[in-house]
Amino acid sequence: MRKIKLYRIINADAQKYIKKIPSRSVDLILTDPPYNLSPYSTGNIKFTWRKDFNNDLAGWDKKSFIPANWINEFKRILKPTGNIFAFCSYNLIGKWHAVFDPEFDTFQFMVWHKTNPPPKVRRAGFLNSCELIVCVWNKGHTWNFTKQNEMHNFIETPICMGRERTKNPVHPTQKPVRVLKHIIKIASNPNDLVFDPFMGVGSTGVASVEMRRRFLGVEIDKKYFNKAKMRLKTAQVSSLSDEFEIQVGKNLSVYNKGKIFKREGFRMAKQK
Ligand SMILES: C[S@@+](CC[C@H](N)C(=O)[O-])C[C@H]1O[C@@H](n2cnc3c(N)ncnc32)[C@H](O)[C@@H]1O
Repeated sequence: MRKIKLYRIINADAQKYIKKIPSRSVDLILTDPPYNLSPYSTGNIKFTWRKDFNNDLAGWDKKSFIPANWINEFKRILKPTGNIFAFCSYNLIGKWHAVFDPEFDTFQFMVWHKTNPPPKVRRAGFLNSCELIVCVWNKGHTWNFTKQNEMHNFIETPICMGRERTKNPVHPTQKPVRVLKHIIKIASNPNDLVFDPFMGVGSTGVASVEMRRRFLGVEIDKKYFNKAKMRLKTAQVSSLSDEFEIQVGKNLSVYNKGKIFKREGFRMAKQK
């Protein structure tokens, strides 16, 4: 695999693509896999005066995410100094723990508290205002500890809103760049490689390149992938390199200072 200078994003199934990533090449796996909350959903709530209140996240959330299917590849691609941070719903935390805790020195979790969660219209339970983030590493991992009072395993921000929230398409679980930057700052260094196999509309990528990290992202859904492509092109890159790569199927396009090189299979052809 070519060395990534700034970022590479791929429209593919991450379960297949991950096998191409060289061993011990990734500094931080920061990802947000499907939540598999559909079995617990009672369906969307209907109103006469507004559009349905969304309880069913999306079709992609119905396909099982099984942490055991990812442990071997995550371990293989992660550098010995690497970290793993993965957003996780309550129903999957036990599965993450059962599989990842025995394989790493440390298994912790963070809580992201959303200051503006969706209202509970029936008032019959708590608001869903907290999200868990699984954190995993080995001794000697990269760790930029700041002040004691800045190192709580807790972060509080609103959910994505306003200009940050993508439209056409809206992604139902878009993560705020602020939360991602907080993790990237603690768990990686400038020029490190951050990998997100479930990148959605590219929030981890935006946070990474804006923090001067390199980024590798995979998204299976073409419409989310296209939005990630747009967002990354307009991210406030603090100049590591001008080179970025976009791969759809076997076609990899490499961009550098406005020139496009199109690589098909193993052949590189220079294009205008
Ligand atoms: C929880 S969302 C991630 C949202 C992302 N954090 C953001 O801010 O946009 C999970 C994403 O994983 C994608 N996905 C599901 N299975 C995948 C797979 N096998 N390979 C790549 N992407 C996948 C879904 O299409 C969805 O966009």
